[in-house]
Amino acid sequence: MEPYGPQHAPEILDYYSRNRAHLEPWEPARAPSFYTLEFHRRECEAAEAANRRGEFVRFAAFAKDGGALVALVNLWEIRRGIIQCAVIGYSADAAHQGRGYATEAAGAAVDHGFRALNLHRLQTSYHPTNERSGRVLRKLGFTVEGYARDYLYMGGAWRDAILVSRTNPDWVPLSGG
Ligand SMILES: CC(C)(COP(=O)(O)OP(=O)(O)OC[C@H]1O[C@@H](n2cnc3c(N)ncnc32)[C@H](O)[C@@H]1OP(=O)(O)O)[C@@H](O)C(=O)NCCC(=O)NCCS
Repeated sequence: MEPYGPQHAPEILDYYSRNRAHLEPWEPARAPSFYTLEFHRRECEAAEAANRRGEFVRFAAFAKDGGALVALVNLWEIRRGIIQCAVIGYSADAAHQGRGYATEAAGAAVDHGFRALNLHRLQTSYHPTNERSGRVLRKLGFTVEGYARDYLYMGGAWRDAILVSRTNPDWVPLSGG
């Protein structure tokens, strides 16, 4: 798994293009420009810079056999101060469902968030009908915190969501903090 860099733009464009129908119900509406190389070059550059600034990290996960891009994972909205948390998001290639790729990639992002970034809390949500995503989160030790009505605008409507989180038992207080 690698943090986004400009070199990944062609593979990321290809991933989103071949998974368009698979991802659109669960992700924000995309403008036509989203499906262009120029858009993803800019996104990858912005992600690399945001990672350097500690704002968010986006990862591309590649299969060990042959190296195809099989999953994307993001640690969004990294917040420090008294909360020390981020929002995790992920998807896996439609052609490789059920092989554990999302669990492995999101698990590596959890490790990065907790160990490398020393975050205390990771949180996210999933639609009540998205049982696969619920399974991924359960396998990774996330627990349910609540149910939010009309929480996210996806697929052209406001959708309910199950809110989940996981905290880091090994979080280390910064000296003086
Ligand atoms: C959700 C998603 C990331 C799962 O990816 P994946 O690589 O198939 O996930 P994994 O193989 O790691 O785990 C999938 C789990 O769902 C289970 N599963 C598969 N099909 C299922 C179904 N129809 N109903 C319920 N569970 C199902 C699998 O058995 C597995 O659980 P298990 O290991 O306990 O048996 C992928 O389907 C996806 O990208 N969906 C669209 C985007 C999305 O929903 N993102 C998350 C938004 S919160």
